[in-house]
Amino acid sequence: MKKLMAANWKMYKTGAEAVETVQAMAGLLNGQAPEGREIVIFVPFTALERACGAMEAIKGAACGAEDVYPAAEGAFTGEISPAMIRACGASWVLTGHSERRHVIGESDSFVGEKTAFALANGLRVMLCIGETLEEREAGLLRNVLERQLKLGLKNVPADTPAEALAIAYEPVWAIGTGKTATTDDIVETHAICRSLMREVLGDKADKTPLLYGGSVKPANAGSILALDNVDGVLVGGASLKADSFTQIINA
Ligand code: PGA
Repeated sequence: MKKLMAANWKMYKTGAEAVETVQAMAGLLNGQAPEGREIVIFVPFTALERACGAMEAIKGAACGAEDVYPAAEGAFTGEISPAMIRACGASWVLTGHSERRHVIGESDSFVGEKTAFALANGLRVMLCIGETLEEREAGLLRNVLERQLKLGLKNVPADTPAEALAIAYEPVWAIGTGKTATTDDIVETHAICRSLMREVLGDKADKTPLLYGGSVKPANAGSILALDNVDGVLVGGASLKADSFTQIINA
């Protein structure tokens, strides 16, 4: 399986800034993802179409939206549909990012609705899961991951190909804090995630990429990518600059 190198630009970058960063990356990467790597950048809605256009200069790279609404169209002010995302040229969407869950207040079952609807409507989905510090300290790690995975993947269409789905494990306490989980933590938690994925996805689980996220940077990306059951990384802060994300891609 290729390593999936994912960037989450959150609420950063206008269309012009996104294009500038993608063009700089295209230069640094000589127009293609390195061997054994696939690149996806999750971009704010307002920059999506322009970023997708610029991304054509990098082979093996794609864009995604950071969220989606689980309906084809309708009276849902402020939301966007899978078809709108695809029309921008994007092929991916994030669901259940911790900021959607903990800042905006999305429930596990709403995340599951989004995941299933986006998959059924032609998008590849990266479902994010992860525990808060309080949950980890209360010994609830496995319970939280199980609940988020089972409800997040409920109603996923049975014919979903393994490569249409990815799971990103991001401990909430490691996101944007500069604190990375230790390699032992990552190995242990990714083994739990993989076994839960097998319960839900059966044989497909081993072909579904499982990414780590949370303060990944050029200095730690290589050692994280070398761990068992780590099929890629999801990078926030360190993905905003072309040189830093390119160093991670090449790690
Ligand atoms: P971070 O964000 O790399 O800035 O910790 C990761 C994420 O939120 O996906």
